[in-house]
Amino acid sequence: MKPVRTLNEQARAIMRGNDQGGYTMPTHGLYPYQWNWDSAFAAFGFATFDVERAWVELETLMSGQWENGMVPHIIFHEASDGYFPGPDEWGAFQNPPTSGISQPPVAATFARAIFERAPEAGQPRMAALFPKLLAWHRWFFEHRNENGMIVVNHPWESGRDNAPDWDEAMGNVDISNVGTYTRNDTSHVDPHMRPSALDYDRFMAIVYAGRTCGWDEAEMAASGPFRVADPGMSFILLRANKDLLAMAQALGEDTAEITGWIAAQEKGVARLWNPEIGGYDAFNIRTGNFGGSMSSTSFLCWYAGLENSEALVEFGRIAEAVTYGFPSHDPASPRFEAYRYWRGPSWGIVNTLIGIGLQEMGHKAQAEKLRQDTAALIEKSGFAEYFNPCDGSPAGGDKFTWTAAIWLAWASPTLTSKGS
Ligand code: DGY
Repeated sequence: MKPVRTLNEQARAIMRGNDQGGYTMPTHGLYPYQWNWDSAFAAFGFATFDVERAWVELETLMSGQWENGMVPHIIFHEASDGYFPGPDEWGAFQNPPTSGISQPPVAATFARAIFERAPEAGQPRMAALFPKLLAWHRWFFEHRNENGMIVVNHPWESGRDNAPDWDEAMGNVDISNVGTYTRNDTSHVDPHMRPSALDYDRFMAIVYAGRTCGWDEAEMAASGPFRVADPGMSFILLRANKDLLAMAQALGEDTAEITGWIAAQEKGVARLWNPEIGGYDAFNIRTGNFGGSMSSTSFLCWYAGLENSEALVEFGRIAEAVTYGFPSHDPASPRFEAYRYWRGPSWGIVNTLIGIGLQEMGHKAQAEKLRQDTAALIEKSGFAEYFNPCDGSPAGGDKFTWTAAIWLAWASPTLTSKGS
Protein backbone atom coordinates (compact mmCIF):
# COMPACT_ATOMS: atom_id res chain seq x y z
CA MET A 1 0.00 0.00 0.00
CA LYS A 2 1.36 3.43 -0.94
CA PRO A 3 1.73 6.26 1.62
CA VAL A 4 -1.14 8.78 1.49
CA ARG A 5 1.18 11.62 0.49
CA THR A 6 2.35 9.68 -2.54
CA LEU A 7 -1.27 9.01 -3.52
CA ASN A 8 -2.11 12.72 -3.18
CA GLU A 9 0.79 13.50 -5.52
CA GLN A 10 -0.26 10.77 -7.94
CA ALA A 11 -3.82 12.09 -8.00
CA ARG A 12 -2.64 15.59 -8.87
CA ALA A 13 -0.31 14.17 -11.55
CA ILE A 14 -3.21 12.22 -13.12
CA MET A 15 -5.35 15.34 -13.26
CA ARG A 16 -2.50 17.34 -14.79
CA GLY A 17 -1.79 14.50 -17.22
CA ASN A 18 -5.42 14.41 -18.42
CA ASP A 19 -5.63 18.22 -18.59
CA GLN A 20 -6.06 19.33 -22.19
CA GLY A 21 -5.73 23.03 -21.29
CA GLY A 22 -9.15 24.27 -20.23
CA TYR A 23 -10.82 20.91 -19.91
CA THR A 24 -9.81 17.54 -18.52
CA MET A 25 -10.50 14.31 -20.37
CA PRO A 26 -11.69 11.42 -18.16
CA THR A 27 -8.77 9.23 -19.30
CA HIS A 28 -6.57 8.89 -22.37
CA GLY A 29 -7.79 6.50 -25.07
CA LEU A 30 -11.21 5.41 -23.78
CA TYR A 31 -12.64 8.93 -23.30
CA PRO A 32 -10.66 11.49 -25.31
CA TYR A 33 -13.03 14.52 -25.04
CA GLN A 34 -14.74 16.63 -22.38
CA TRP A 35 -17.50 14.78 -20.52
CA ASN A 36 -20.02 16.79 -18.55
CA TRP A 37 -20.11 15.32 -15.04
CA ASP A 38 -16.53 14.06 -15.27
CA SER A 39 -15.53 17.66 -15.81
CA ALA A 40 -17.53 18.93 -12.85
CA PHE A 41 -15.85 16.31 -10.64
CA ALA A 42 -12.50 17.44 -12.07
CA ALA A 43 -13.31 20.99 -10.96
CA PHE A 44 -14.10 19.66 -7.46
CA GLY A 45 -10.66 18.00 -7.39
CA PHE A 46 -8.75 20.92 -8.91
CA ALA A 47 -10.23 23.20 -6.24
CA THR A 48 -8.05 21.41 -3.64
CA PHE A 49 -4.83 22.63 -5.26
CA ASP A 50 -5.63 25.11 -8.05
CA VAL A 51 -8.85 27.09 -7.59
CA GLU A 52 -8.27 29.12 -10.75
CA ARG A 53 -8.04 25.91 -12.82
CA ALA A 54 -11.24 24.64 -11.17
CA TRP A 55 -13.19 27.68 -12.40
CA VAL A 56 -11.75 27.32 -15.90
CA GLU A 57 -12.93 23.68 -16.03
CA LEU A 58 -16.54 24.72 -15.34
CA GLU A 59 -16.31 27.69 -17.71
CA THR A 60 -15.13 25.46 -20.54
CA LEU A 61 -17.95 23.02 -19.81
CA MET A 62 -20.52 25.80 -20.05
CA SER A 63 -18.99 26.98 -23.34
CA GLY A 64 -20.69 23.95 -24.94
CA GLN A 65 -24.14 25.03 -23.77
CA TRP A 66 -26.87 24.93 -26.41
CA GLU A 67 -29.17 27.87 -27.11
CA ASN A 68 -32.01 26.04 -25.39
CA GLY A 69 -29.95 25.82 -22.18
CA MET A 70 -28.91 22.15 -22.45
CA VAL A 71 -25.31 21.38 -21.47
CA PRO A 72 -24.30 18.34 -23.52
CA HIS A 73 -22.79 15.21 -22.10
CA ILE A 74 -19.81 15.27 -24.48
CA ILE A 75 -18.06 18.26 -26.06
CA PHE A 76 -15.83 17.16 -28.94
CA HIS A 77 -13.30 20.01 -28.68
CA GLU A 78 -10.73 18.34 -30.92
CA ALA A 79 -10.96 15.58 -33.49
CA SER A 80 -9.96 12.11 -32.30
CA ASP A 81 -10.72 8.80 -33.96
CA GLY A 82 -10.42 6.75 -30.77
CA TYR A 83 -14.03 7.07 -29.64
CA PHE A 84 -17.38 5.85 -30.90
CA PRO A 85 -19.94 7.40 -31.38
CA GLY A 86 -18.26 10.59 -32.61
CA PRO A 87 -19.79 13.89 -33.82
CA ASP A 88 -21.12 12.46 -37.12
CA GLU A 89 -23.23 9.84 -35.38
CA TRP A 90 -24.69 12.48 -33.08
CA GLY A 91 -25.39 14.95 -35.92
CA ALA A 92 -26.03 17.74 -33.44
CA PHE A 93 -24.65 20.59 -35.61
CA GLN A 94 -23.01 22.55 -32.81
CA ASN A 95 -19.71 24.39 -32.78
CA PRO A 96 -17.69 22.83 -31.13
CA PRO A 97 -19.49 19.56 -31.97
CA THR A 98 -21.35 17.94 -29.10
CA SER A 99 -23.57 14.99 -28.29
CA GLY A 100 -27.35 15.58 -28.22
CA ILE A 101 -28.13 14.68 -24.59
CA SER A 102 -27.11 15.96 -21.17
CA GLN A 103 -25.71 14.34 -18.01
CA PRO A 104 -26.25 14.58 -14.22
CA PRO A 105 -25.93 18.26 -13.23
CA VAL A 106 -23.39 18.14 -10.41
CA ALA A 107 -21.79 21.37 -11.72
CA ALA A 108 -23.81 23.84 -9.61
CA THR A 109 -23.01 21.90 -6.44
CA PHE A 110 -19.28 21.91 -7.14
CA ALA A 111 -19.36 25.55 -8.30
CA ARG A 112 -20.75 26.42 -4.88
CA ALA A 113 -18.05 24.32 -3.18
CA ILE A 114 -15.33 26.09 -5.19
CA PHE A 115 -16.87 29.50 -4.49
CA GLU A 116 -16.95 28.82 -0.77
CA ARG A 117 -13.23 28.03 -0.71
CA ALA A 118 -12.40 31.60 -1.80
CA PRO A 119 -15.61 33.67 -1.97
CA GLU A 120 -14.07 37.04 -2.73
CA ALA A 121 -12.01 35.89 -5.70
CA GLY A 122 -14.82 33.59 -6.80
CA GLN A 123 -17.57 36.23 -6.83
CA PRO A 124 -17.17 37.39 -10.48
CA ARG A 125 -16.65 33.81 -11.71
CA MET A 126 -19.78 32.63 -9.90
CA ALA A 127 -21.76 35.67 -11.10
CA ALA A 128 -20.85 34.82 -14.71
CA LEU A 129 -21.66 31.10 -14.34
CA PHE A 130 -24.93 31.59 -12.47
CA PRO A 131 -27.18 32.53 -15.45
CA LYS A 132 -25.78 29.62 -17.45
CA LEU A 133 -26.42 27.12 -14.66
CA LEU A 134 -29.89 28.61 -14.19
CA ALA A 135 -30.65 28.19 -17.91
CA TRP A 136 -29.47 24.58 -17.80
CA HIS A 137 -31.61 23.76 -14.77
CA ARG A 138 -34.56 25.50 -16.49
CA TRP A 139 -33.99 23.23 -19.51
CA PHE A 140 -34.42 20.22 -17.22
CA PHE A 141 -37.76 21.62 -16.05
CA GLU A 142 -38.92 22.39 -19.57
CA HIS A 143 -37.84 19.12 -21.16
CA ARG A 144 -37.06 16.46 -18.55
CA ASN A 145 -39.76 17.05 -15.98
CA GLU A 146 -42.54 14.48 -15.61
CA ASN A 147 -44.61 15.35 -12.57
CA GLY A 148 -41.55 16.50 -10.62
CA MET A 149 -39.61 13.33 -11.56
CA ILE A 150 -36.60 14.02 -13.78
CA VAL A 151 -36.38 11.74 -16.80
CA VAL A 152 -33.58 10.66 -19.10
CA ASN A 153 -34.04 10.19 -22.85
CA HIS A 154 -31.03 7.90 -23.14
CA PRO A 155 -29.28 5.69 -20.55
CA TRP A 156 -26.08 7.65 -21.32
CA GLU A 157 -27.86 10.76 -20.05
CA SER A 158 -28.07 9.18 -16.58
CA GLY A 159 -24.31 8.54 -16.60
CA ARG A 160 -25.16 4.93 -15.59
CA ASP A 161 -25.26 3.44 -19.05
CA ASN A 162 -26.13 -0.21 -18.46
CA ALA A 163 -27.71 -0.06 -15.00
CA PRO A 164 -30.43 -2.70 -14.43
CA ASP A 165 -32.72 0.31 -13.86
CA TRP A 166 -33.14 0.53 -17.64
CA ASP A 167 -33.58 -3.16 -18.49
CA GLU A 168 -37.33 -3.07 -18.95
CA ALA A 169 -37.31 0.14 -21.02
CA MET A 170 -34.31 -0.97 -23.06
CA GLY A 171 -36.17 -4.19 -23.90
CA ASN A 172 -38.68 -2.07 -25.83
CA VAL A 173 -36.10 -0.24 -27.99
CA ASP A 174 -36.37 -1.28 -31.64
CA ILE A 175 -32.90 -2.05 -33.06
CA SER A 176 -34.01 -3.13 -36.53
CA ASN A 177 -32.56 0.00 -38.22
CA VAL A 178 -29.23 0.19 -36.42
CA GLY A 179 -27.02 -1.48 -39.03
CA THR A 180 -23.35 -2.18 -38.46
CA TYR A 181 -20.83 -0.05 -36.58
CA THR A 182 -17.55 -0.56 -34.75
CA ARG A 183 -17.26 0.02 -31.04
CA ASN A 184 -13.95 1.36 -29.75
CA ASP A 185 -14.49 0.98 -26.02
CA THR A 186 -13.89 -2.77 -25.99
CA SER A 187 -10.49 -2.30 -27.62
CA HIS A 188 -9.46 -0.16 -24.61
CA VAL A 189 -11.14 -2.14 -21.82
CA ASP A 190 -11.93 -5.83 -21.17
CA PRO A 191 -15.40 -6.36 -22.72
CA HIS A 192 -16.74 -8.07 -19.60
CA MET A 193 -16.32 -4.76 -17.77
CA ARG A 194 -18.34 -2.88 -20.40
CA PRO A 195 -21.99 -2.85 -21.64
CA SER A 196 -23.01 -5.78 -23.85
CA ALA A 197 -23.33 -5.78 -27.67
CA LEU A 198 -27.13 -5.71 -27.34
CA ASP A 199 -26.89 -2.70 -25.01
CA TYR A 200 -24.82 -0.90 -27.66
CA ASP A 201 -27.33 -1.66 -30.42
CA ARG A 202 -30.02 -0.11 -28.26
CA PHE A 203 -27.83 2.86 -27.31
CA MET A 204 -27.24 3.53 -30.99
CA ALA A 205 -30.92 3.08 -31.91
CA ILE A 206 -31.79 5.88 -29.45
CA VAL A 207 -28.97 8.10 -30.79
CA TYR A 208 -30.20 7.62 -34.37
CA ALA A 209 -33.79 8.41 -33.32
CA GLY A 210 -32.59 11.68 -31.77
CA ARG A 211 -30.51 12.55 -34.80
CA THR A 212 -33.44 11.83 -37.15
CA CYS A 213 -35.69 14.33 -35.37
CA GLY A 214 -32.88 16.93 -35.11
CA TRP A 215 -32.79 16.46 -31.32
CA ASP A 216 -36.22 18.06 -31.12
CA GLU A 217 -37.15 17.92 -27.44
CA ALA A 218 -40.93 17.95 -27.97
CA GLU A 219 -40.73 15.10 -30.43
CA MET A 220 -38.45 13.01 -28.22
CA ALA A 221 -40.74 13.62 -25.22
CA ALA A 222 -43.78 12.56 -27.22
CA SER A 223 -42.42 9.55 -29.07
CA GLY A 224 -38.69 8.98 -28.40
CA PRO A 225 -37.74 5.32 -27.84
CA PHE A 226 -36.68 5.81 -24.22
CA ARG A 227 -38.04 8.02 -21.44
CA VAL A 228 -37.40 6.89 -17.89
CA ALA A 229 -37.50 8.82 -14.61
CA ASP A 230 -34.14 8.40 -12.92
CA PRO A 231 -33.60 8.53 -9.15
CA GLY A 232 -29.98 9.58 -9.77
CA MET A 233 -30.85 12.48 -12.05
CA SER A 234 -33.76 13.49 -9.82
CA PHE A 235 -31.77 13.59 -6.57
CA ILE A 236 -28.73 15.21 -8.19
CA LEU A 237 -30.79 18.00 -9.76
CA LEU A 238 -32.72 18.54 -6.52
CA ARG A 239 -29.45 18.92 -4.64
CA ALA A 240 -28.04 21.16 -7.38
CA ASN A 241 -31.11 23.38 -7.16
CA LYS A 242 -30.57 23.79 -3.43
CA ASP A 243 -26.98 24.85 -4.14
CA LEU A 244 -28.12 27.15 -6.94
CA LEU A 245 -30.59 28.72 -4.50
CA ALA A 246 -27.75 29.41 -2.05
CA MET A 247 -25.78 31.00 -4.89
CA ALA A 248 -28.77 33.12 -5.92
CA GLN A 249 -29.03 34.37 -2.34
CA ALA A 250 -25.29 35.12 -2.17
CA LEU A 251 -25.47 37.01 -5.47
CA GLY A 252 -28.70 38.87 -4.63
CA GLU A 253 -30.58 37.18 -7.51
CA ASP A 254 -34.28 36.39 -7.61
CA THR A 255 -34.98 33.02 -5.95
CA ALA A 256 -38.68 32.37 -6.73
CA GLU A 257 -38.16 30.18 -9.79
CA ILE A 258 -35.60 27.94 -8.06
CA THR A 259 -37.74 27.64 -4.93
CA GLY A 260 -40.61 26.47 -7.13
CA TRP A 261 -38.41 23.82 -8.76
CA ILE A 262 -37.33 22.50 -5.36
CA ALA A 263 -40.92 22.19 -4.14
CA ALA A 264 -41.99 20.39 -7.33
CA GLN A 265 -39.02 18.02 -7.16
CA GLU A 266 -39.55 17.15 -3.51
CA LYS A 267 -43.01 15.92 -4.46
CA GLY A 268 -41.64 14.23 -7.59
CA VAL A 269 -38.95 12.14 -5.89
CA ALA A 270 -41.56 10.73 -3.49
CA ARG A 271 -43.23 9.19 -6.57
CA LEU A 272 -40.03 7.24 -7.26
CA TRP A 273 -40.43 5.22 -4.06
CA ASN A 274 -41.20 1.65 -5.08
CA PRO A 275 -42.82 -0.14 -2.12
CA GLU A 276 -42.15 -3.51 -3.74
CA ILE A 277 -38.40 -3.15 -3.43
CA GLY A 278 -38.51 -0.73 -0.48
CA GLY A 279 -36.40 1.84 -2.27
CA TYR A 280 -36.23 4.69 -4.77
CA ASP A 281 -36.45 3.20 -8.25
CA ALA A 282 -36.43 4.13 -11.93
CA PHE A 283 -39.88 4.63 -13.46
CA ASN A 284 -40.64 4.06 -17.14
CA ILE A 285 -42.88 6.89 -18.39
CA ARG A 286 -43.88 4.90 -21.48
CA THR A 287 -45.17 1.81 -19.63
CA GLY A 288 -45.84 3.08 -16.10
CA ASN A 289 -43.59 0.34 -14.68
CA PHE A 290 -40.87 0.62 -12.09
CA GLY A 291 -37.46 -0.79 -13.03
CA GLY A 292 -37.46 -3.02 -9.92
CA SER A 293 -33.83 -2.07 -9.34
CA MET A 294 -32.12 -1.04 -6.12
CA SER A 295 -29.09 0.88 -7.35
CA SER A 296 -26.49 3.10 -5.70
CA THR A 297 -28.36 6.24 -6.78
CA SER A 298 -31.41 5.01 -4.83
CA PHE A 299 -29.33 6.21 -1.87
CA LEU A 300 -28.81 9.80 -2.99
CA CYS A 301 -31.84 10.92 -0.94
CA TRP A 302 -29.56 12.29 1.81
CA TYR A 303 -27.46 14.13 -0.78
CA ALA A 304 -30.71 15.81 -1.86
CA GLY A 305 -31.40 16.76 1.77
CA LEU A 306 -34.18 14.21 2.36
CA GLU A 307 -34.30 11.79 5.28
CA ASN A 308 -35.55 8.23 4.83
CA SER A 309 -35.18 5.67 7.61
CA GLU A 310 -36.16 2.69 5.43
CA ALA A 311 -33.46 3.63 2.93
CA LEU A 312 -30.94 3.76 5.77
CA VAL A 313 -31.73 0.17 6.75
CA GLU A 314 -31.37 -1.00 3.12
CA PHE A 315 -28.15 0.98 2.78
CA GLY A 316 -26.74 -0.94 5.76
CA ARG A 317 -27.81 -4.31 4.36
CA ILE A 318 -26.20 -3.68 0.96
CA ALA A 319 -23.01 -2.18 2.41
CA GLU A 320 -22.62 -5.30 4.60
CA ALA A 321 -23.02 -7.61 1.61
CA VAL A 322 -19.77 -6.50 -0.04
CA THR A 323 -16.23 -5.90 1.19
CA TYR A 324 -15.91 -2.42 -0.33
CA GLY A 325 -18.99 -0.18 -0.37
CA PHE A 326 -20.96 0.86 -2.25
CA PRO A 327 -22.02 -1.42 -5.13
CA SER A 328 -23.88 0.19 -8.03
CA HIS A 329 -26.48 -2.59 -7.87
CA ASP A 330 -27.86 -4.71 -5.03
CA PRO A 331 -25.66 -7.86 -4.70
CA ALA A 332 -28.77 -9.83 -3.63
CA SER A 333 -30.22 -9.30 -7.12
CA PRO A 334 -29.67 -11.94 -9.83
CA ARG A 335 -28.75 -9.05 -12.16
CA PHE A 336 -25.70 -8.09 -10.06
CA GLU A 337 -22.35 -8.45 -11.91
CA ALA A 338 -19.30 -7.46 -9.89
CA TYR A 339 -17.22 -6.25 -12.86
CA ARG A 340 -19.75 -5.03 -15.41
CA TYR A 341 -19.79 -1.24 -15.36
CA TRP A 342 -23.03 -0.02 -13.69
CA ARG A 343 -24.39 -3.49 -12.82
CA GLY A 344 -22.38 -3.99 -9.65
CA PRO A 345 -19.03 -2.21 -9.39
CA SER A 346 -18.25 0.41 -6.76
CA TRP A 347 -17.78 3.90 -8.20
CA GLY A 348 -15.80 6.50 -6.23
CA ILE A 349 -17.89 9.37 -7.54
CA VAL A 350 -21.23 7.93 -6.43
CA ASN A 351 -19.68 6.94 -3.10
CA THR A 352 -18.64 10.57 -2.72
CA LEU A 353 -22.14 11.91 -3.36
CA ILE A 354 -23.73 9.35 -1.03
CA GLY A 355 -21.06 10.05 1.59
CA ILE A 356 -21.53 13.82 1.43
CA GLY A 357 -25.28 13.30 1.90
CA LEU A 358 -24.89 10.87 4.81
CA GLN A 359 -22.43 13.22 6.54
CA GLU A 360 -24.65 16.27 6.11
CA MET A 361 -27.74 14.44 7.37
CA GLY A 362 -25.94 13.30 10.52
CA HIS A 363 -25.21 9.67 9.58
CA LYS A 364 -21.57 10.17 10.32
CA ALA A 365 -20.56 6.56 11.00
CA GLN A 366 -21.95 5.37 7.64
CA ALA A 367 -20.36 8.34 5.87
CA GLU A 368 -16.96 7.67 7.41
CA LYS A 369 -17.12 3.93 6.61
CA LEU A 370 -17.93 4.72 2.98
CA ARG A 371 -15.07 7.20 2.79
CA GLN A 372 -12.68 4.65 4.30
CA ASP A 373 -13.87 1.93 1.90
CA THR A 374 -13.36 4.25 -1.07
CA ALA A 375 -9.90 5.23 0.16
CA ALA A 376 -9.06 1.54 0.65
CA LEU A 377 -10.09 0.76 -2.94
CA ILE A 378 -7.79 3.46 -4.26
CA GLU A 379 -4.94 2.49 -1.93
CA LYS A 380 -5.26 -1.13 -3.08
CA SER A 381 -5.97 -0.71 -6.79
CA GLY A 382 -5.06 2.84 -7.86
CA PHE A 383 -7.14 5.46 -9.62
CA ALA A 384 -9.31 3.11 -11.67
CA GLU A 385 -12.57 4.16 -13.28
CA TYR A 386 -14.50 1.78 -10.96
CA PHE A 387 -13.83 -1.28 -8.79
CA ASN A 388 -15.10 -4.77 -8.10
CA PRO A 389 -16.86 -4.25 -4.72
CA CYS A 390 -16.24 -7.82 -3.58
CA ASP A 391 -12.46 -8.09 -3.95
CA GLY A 392 -11.49 -4.45 -4.65
CA SER A 393 -9.80 -5.14 -7.97
CA PRO A 394 -9.63 -2.30 -10.52
CA ALA A 395 -12.01 -2.12 -13.49
CA GLY A 396 -12.57 0.02 -16.59
CA GLY A 397 -10.11 2.74 -17.59
CA ASP A 398 -7.11 3.64 -15.44
CA LYS A 399 -5.51 6.94 -14.40
CA PHE A 400 -9.04 8.23 -14.21
CA THR A 401 -9.67 11.93 -13.61
CA TRP A 402 -12.76 11.63 -11.43
CA THR A 403 -11.26 8.99 -9.15
CA ALA A 404 -8.20 11.22 -8.67
CA ALA A 405 -10.52 14.20 -8.07
CA ILE A 406 -12.65 12.55 -5.40
CA TRP A 407 -9.53 11.20 -3.70
CA LEU A 408 -8.25 14.76 -3.36
CA ALA A 409 -11.56 16.39 -2.45
CA TRP A 410 -13.21 13.71 -0.31
CA ALA A 411 -11.57 10.30 0.18
CA SER A 412 -7.95 11.05 1.09
CA PRO A 413 -7.34 10.54 4.83
CA THR A 414 -5.34 13.78 4.90
CA LEU A 415 -8.55 15.71 4.27
CA THR A 416 -10.86 14.20 6.88
CA SER A 417 -10.36 17.04 9.35
CA LYS A 418 -12.15 19.27 6.85
CA GLY A 419 -15.27 17.07 6.87
CA SER A 420 -17.09 16.36 3.62
C1 DGY B 1 -19.39 5.75 -22.98
O1 DGY B 1 -19.10 5.96 -24.15
O2 DGY B 1 -19.07 4.74 -22.36
C2 DGY B 1 -20.05 6.78 -22.22
O3 DGY B 1 -20.46 6.35 -20.97
C3 DGY B 1 -21.12 7.48 -22.96
O4 DGY B 1 -21.14 8.73 -22.37
